[in-house]
Amino acid sequence: MAVNTTTYVRPSTRTSAYLDWLQMLTGAALILFMWSHMILVASVNLGAGVMNALAHFLEKTYMAQVGGPIIGCIFLLHFVLAARKVPFRAEQQSTIWKLSRQLRHTDTYLWLVQAITAMIILIMGSIHMWTVLTDLPITAAKSAGRIQGGFWFVFYLILLPMIELHVGIGFYRIAVKWGFARRKDRKKFKRFENYLTAIFIAIGLITLLRFLLLKV
Ligand code: HEM
Repeated sequence: MAVNTTTYVRPSTRTSAYLDWLQMLTGAALILFMWSHMILVASVNLGAGVMNALAHFLEKTYMAQVGGPIIGCIFLLHFVLAARKVPFRAEQQSTIWKLSRQLRHTDTYLWLVQAITAMIILIMGSIHMWTVLTDLPITAAKSAGRIQGGFWFVFYLILLPMIELHVGIGFYRIAVKWGFARRKDRKKFKRFENYLTAIFIAIGLITLLRFLLLKV
């Protein structure tokens, strides 16, 4: 008897709705984390002492030692939840590609950017977190040393736009999907999100240059 290999157990719509909520909540938590993370790292622009003091505070209160692995878990959970809708198989990829070209719909393209950046962030973000969290304490001199070595400078030049695009589009999609940005406000909200992404990339680039020029 032929076995139908395409048969699978479809989760109930209620479960899907809960998982969608959880995906949105983990995404929102990571957006807030990335904004705070930028404040921590960019504080080096105010002086190495300012970044060291902030990092020292986070470690003295165990926020780095405990919060770091928690962020790592939320990061993985968010990926697993979002992966439910990512087209991993070749035929799914060709279908979504054909459909997006037919639709020529900006939000569909944004979703594709979201799925592609997610894969890169999953790998590079994990390597980055492991490197930093297994080499505590965080100091401006250590970060500068890493970046001046060259490898991490190029690594961050790639990761920075990936993460800022993903965070910016994620922020916009949450607002649209959960009704914070109404149809008539979408264009305005999109423009605001583009500015926000550009500002964060600019702050990130200035910070990388600051690390590159910091005397260690
Ligand atoms: C709890 C976890 C994390 C800690 C403690 C942390 C800490 C740091 C530190 C100290 C730096 C300065 C450079 C260095 O020392 O190598 C840095 C830079 C950076 N991190 Fe993280 N990070 C964490 C999570 C993440 C995650 C999840 C992402 C994105 C997936 C990320 C993306 C970046 C980027 C793009 C830079 C370069 C920023 C710039 O342009 O100056 N980090 N991080």
